[in-house]
Amino acid sequence: MQSLHLETLLSTDQIRAKVQELATQIRADYGDSEILLLGVLKGSFHFLSDLSRLLYDISVVDFVQVSSYGAEKSSSGVVQIRKDLDTNIEGKDVLIVEDIVDTGTTLTHLRELLGTRKPRSLKVVALLSKPEARKHKTQVEYVGFEIPNEFVVGYGLDYGERFRNLPYIAILHED
Ligand code: IMP
Repeated sequence: MQSLHLETLLSTDQIRAKVQELATQIRADYGDSEILLLGVLKGSFHFLSDLSRLLYDISVVDFVQVSSYGAEKSSSGVVQIRKDLDTNIEGKDVLIVEDIVDTGTTLTHLRELLGTRKPRSLKVVALLSKPEARKHKTQVEYVGFEIPNEFVVGYGLDYGERFRNLPYIAILHED
């Protein structure tokens, strides 16, 4: 039987401090303008929850859910919208909230799609980034941690829906 074990990569305290740092930076950049925090389901929900409470007085939230088809399933690597936003983003300051940027496929398509809806600004905050895994060059304005090219779980990130609610981030090893 396959056995899995977790190796802590980022502790709850490290994550908390980083989210605080990101919120301070975002506040400084946006001033008093209202920000639409757009969570990408499901992985971003813990991050969005913590970040949005630190920006409670200047933010509103909405969600989008996408499904990506990698190169093995489709040559175009198309990202499909499974749940669209409820908000009309025209003229708004939209900040996409992502758990992790891996190949960059999801963000590239999401940025393209949302860009056509004429927001006033469109930026991205990602808690994690794996620069070595990048296949599509995509802009990420705020990055929490750059991590090695390993599969990680916790704080929203799952492995077949498991480990999503772990309060820290761990590398998942399969023995
Ligand atoms: P990308 O389109 O390749 O950048 O992948 C983005 C999505 O893949 C993320 O939003 C996650 O849902 C998922 N993903 C990428 N790397 C990991 C990982 O290490 N653990 C869990 N999910 C991941």
